[in-house]
Amino acid sequence: MNRCWHGAVNVGSEDNGKLNFDCCSLGNTCHVTSLEERLCTFSQNTSDPSRGLTLQPSMVGRNALHSPTIIYRPIRPSDLEVLEQIHCDLFPIRYESEFFLNVVHGRGIVSWGAVDCSRPGNQSDELIGFVTARMVASEESEIGDMLPYDSSGADRTLLYILTLGVIQSYRNQGIASSLTQEVVKYASSLLSCRAVYLHVIAYNNSAICFYQKMSFQCVRRLASFYYINGQHYDSYLFVYYVNGGRSPCSPLDIVAAVTTYMRSLCKMLIGRLWKNEEKRVLKWPKCKETSCLLVNQNRKNISTENGCQCV
Ligand SMILES: CC(C)(COP(=O)(O)OP(=O)(O)OC[C@H]1O[C@@H](n2cnc3c(N)ncnc32)[C@H](O)[C@@H]1OP(=O)(O)O)[C@@H](O)C(=O)NCCC(=O)NCCS
Repeated sequence: MNRCWHGAVNVGSEDNGKLNFDCCSLGNTCHVTSLEERLCTFSQNTSDPSRGLTLQPSMVGRNALHSPTIIYRPIRPSDLEVLEQIHCDLFPIRYESEFFLNVVHGRGIVSWGAVDCSRPGNQSDELIGFVTARMVASEESEIGDMLPYDSSGADRTLLYILTLGVIQSYRNQGIASSLTQEVVKYASSLLSCRAVYLHVIAYNNSAICFYQKMSFQCVRRLASFYYINGQHYDSYLFVYYVNGGRSPCSPLDIVAAVTTYMRSLCKMLIGRLWKNEEKRVLKWPKCKETSCLLVNQNRKNISTENGCQCV
């Protein structure tokens, strides 16, 4: 397994070495249903997130040395050690053991793991990728204000992605895309859920590109959101709305609506001005022609009268 340090964090902030789960405090409205074990073997087309279900080796593997057969399944207690190791390899902050125990036992956290069952021996069931997420009540989240007003007063929830990662040798094969799709599918299946959201540290370009590719919207930049090894880092807040969670009145929508309105107004005004101009131009030549003719005639007359040629 590659041991590669990547500057990616989407878990919360660290303060004096202790992790704060900013938006995802434990135990609050976390209805985590037991996930059906969904076993599906995918081909990993690198560009299409809705990638297919048949293995096509030609489309597989900018990184992997063999054609992997990836299976997605919930993370379970036997994954504990590897899960901890991969988190340690991929993220610049340390997670408490309690976090991993909660993941593998599904306590307040939903998770999906990816394994390559074409690997030899015991490795065929070893995690090569994972995603973990937690339900959050919308009023406790920082994006509650971005959701449309719900007059029914029904409880609304959000799914907060805590961690997502794929080991280096399996990257760029659509594995993170498939894991994220599982999260979105799960969120969409919960009637109360309005969005999936997460934080990405501002310098993690690959993750930023990844979420943009997955059609997540970057809605905010949060200054000094993370505190890692004595240094502050900004984060981006990414959201993917589900179940009609998209606010019709988000600031971005308002700006977009005003821009569209102004554009069409300008077009209309320019159109009208153009028409008026055309009318004036149509009238003017007649006049001009007449006056020219008159002038010319006059000139002609004059010149003829004077015996001189006027051109
Ligand atoms: C970000 C990460 C999860 C992506 O995993 P992955 O399995 O390689 O992602 P996918 O193959 O599904 O990539 C899908 C799309 O994401 C984008 N993407 C992924 N890695 C990228 C990179 N290094 N640079 C630019 N874009 C990238 C691409 O648009 C890609 O589409 P393409 O294959 O058509 O070009 C992986 O790089 C990783 O584990 N990084 C370290 C941990 C981390 O940063 N986690 C995210 C924390 S918020």
